[in-house]
Amino acid sequence: MTDTKEPSQLTKAEARAELDRLAALLARANEAYHTEDAPEISDAEYDALKRRNAEIEEFFPGLKRTDSPSEQIGARPAEGFAKVTHAVRMLSLGNAFDDEDVHAFDRSVRKYLGLGEDAPLAYTSEPKIDGLSLSLRYEGGDLVQAATRGDGEIGENVTANARTIADIPERIDQAPEILEIRGEVYMSHQDFSKLNDRQAQRGGKSFANPRNAAAGSLRQLDATVTRDRPLRFFAYGWGEISAPLAETQGEAIERLAAMGFATNPLTRLVDGPEAMLAHYREIEAQRATLGYDIDGVVYKVNDLGLQARLGFRSTTPRWAIAHKFPAELAWTRLEAIDIQVGRTGALSPVARLTPVTVGGVVVSNATLHNEDYIAGRDARGEEIRAGKDIRVGDWVQVYRAGDVIPKIADVDLSKRPDGAKPYDFPTTCPECGSDAVREEGDAVRRCTGGLVCPAQAVEKLKHFVSRAAFDIEGLGAKQVEQFHRDGWIREPADIFILRDRYGSGIQQLKNREGWGEKSAENLFAAIEDSRRVDFNRLLFGLGIRHLGEVAAKDLARHFTDWPALAATADKAAEEGETGPAWAEFTGIDGIGDTLTRSLVTTLAQEEERASIERLIGHLDIQPLAARATDSPVAGKTVVFTGTLEKMTRAEAKARAEALGAKVSGSVSAKTDLLVAGPGAGSKAKKAAELGIKTLDEDGWLALVGDA
Ligand code: IVH
Repeated sequence: MTDTKEPSQLTKAEARAELDRLAALLARANEAYHTEDAPEISDAEYDALKRRNAEIEEFFPGLKRTDSPSEQIGARPAEGFAKVTHAVRMLSLGNAFDDEDVHAFDRSVRKYLGLGEDAPLAYTSEPKIDGLSLSLRYEGGDLVQAATRGDGEIGENVTANARTIADIPERIDQAPEILEIRGEVYMSHQDFSKLNDRQAQRGGKSFANPRNAAAGSLRQLDATVTRDRPLRFFAYGWGEISAPLAETQGEAIERLAAMGFATNPLTRLVDGPEAMLAHYREIEAQRATLGYDIDGVVYKVNDLGLQARLGFRSTTPRWAIAHKFPAELAWTRLEAIDIQVGRTGALSPVARLTPVTVGGVVVSNATLHNEDYIAGRDARGEEIRAGKDIRVGDWVQVYRAGDVIPKIADVDLSKRPDGAKPYDFPTTCPECGSDAVREEGDAVRRCTGGLVCPAQAVEKLKHFVSRAAFDIEGLGAKQVEQFHRDGWIREPADIFILRDRYGSGIQQLKNREGWGEKSAENLFAAIEDSRRVDFNRLLFGLGIRHLGEVAAKDLARHFTDWPALAATADKAAEEGETGPAWAEFTGIDGIGDTLTRSLVTTLAQEEERASIERLIGHLDIQPLAARATDSPVAGKTVVFTGTLEKMTRAEAKARAEALGAKVSGSVSAKTDLLVAGPGAGSKAKKAAELGIKTLDEDGWLALVGDA
């Protein structure tokens, strides 16, 4: 959608903050959906959050969190069921949201396989069932185990429950010795409404939608309850198999049907993006009359040999994609525009809306990003929303997409009240009255109050105690606000003198709202523990603009301690941007001029620096531990050259990166390994001169265990 703030418009700090927020939101959504069967956000919103996360990660690869939501599927299994480790991981699907995404998927498959634009490439196309996935294990034709997806690696053993589902055969003939069938458990609309009526009569819990009803019914500890619930199952794939089912996806599905599984009757073979899109529209037109919920269409490369070559990214196959149906939108009135002041002084406008339901969730706030956005322009001055500005009193169209705060898609000018005025963006900070200025090239207006501005100070403190920084148990955003309001904590260093200063302070604390003797003691103990802090967490916790978690690690790896970093920053301030100290910063992989400028100027500000030094005086800073991993190429820099015959360059690169190697395009003293196919020229020569280990393609495959 055109009015989402593009990742390219985000500062690194904004991107990092948004990735943090998205990770927290997605973790909560997963928990609610998979473990509690009680989703708090709609599927479309969930997808939008994931997509937003992926977009930002793509633009800022260095900011990708180690626990990135794009690396995770589902949630941990609920307590109560035995755990099952899947022989083959149960993965998720990447998403396409529009026609272009589908074309891009086809292009990426072709590129990966080295196929030209006109080479024939068939796909299967089938409805995406909105249920929950199940893996059925057959040994010698007998059903021996049924497991939910769980987190993709470990699911729940629901065998007794699965045996009660009519669509799931107990025994199959002419099957390979080991056969894991994967598919979706769902409930039809008719059965869902009957179940809810029955539940209502019995005074039981009613379900929000058929998917929740299916999940709640399958995951009953008492299988006799499941037996009473009309669940169904469509088979669409497989996990471990002792012998191949067929040569193509389409034929494999036909075999599953012949074995007695229900397969979706709308499955078709299609010969490229145009046919995929035509089939998508056909399915979309039938959506309302199918009698069960679907949330999109899944396309899969038909040739199983090609599927094997394409393989997987960390959680999704390269050979399939889900083309999702669009998210919901709703119209409501913009009642007011409020300005919030962030940690770096950014003035963020927030729309206060007449509450409206969007995709099952009540929305009353939306982000307005910045003053250009309100005026109907993007960062480059080009029109967004066809140049329509947003005014208080307007009817606005709201949607929820990759952010905690919903966004505004459109404005209905025909309903604009008479006398509605263009929004006048403040030029002074609403919190401290200092000038709010917008620097050249910055989309955001910022308060110049620095430490004087209470809003900035509180936001900085909140950042300081956040999970990725000091993570002090018992000292969260709410407590920080309280302590700041009371003047007990004005800057991070104050946290560490809280006990001394307010000492018998436990007594004082104990009498405060929300604090008891135990929680106060726990807080002081947690503060004590947090004095010992990893160097990178300290750097991140300082809340310096553009200094995200990843850059903090990069700096901590390079400088190892605070005095070394501070001395180099001081030198850089003295020598300027062309001196060697500046170059020492920008020579670190992942650190650029923008961050260096921000770091050097922040440390050169007397008050800021004094505040940081006061903090450091209380800490026991730990150097960053070295990374350890067990693949033979982990941490190594690998270069591929010449013609590779058994894989495309993209395949080779993906495999190497999956094993923890860094793939580079050129040979230098930093190269650890050269993989040279026929026709290798200057790179092989240079590697030989530098004494770099060189392997041929087979040698590489043997090294990484793919031979
Ligand atoms: S294929 C490697 N086909 O959608 C993963 N999945 O968003 C292959 N789903 O986890 C999955 N209908 O639970 C596939 N026709 C279909 C599907 C389908 C629903 C679910 C499945 C999967 C999730 C991914």
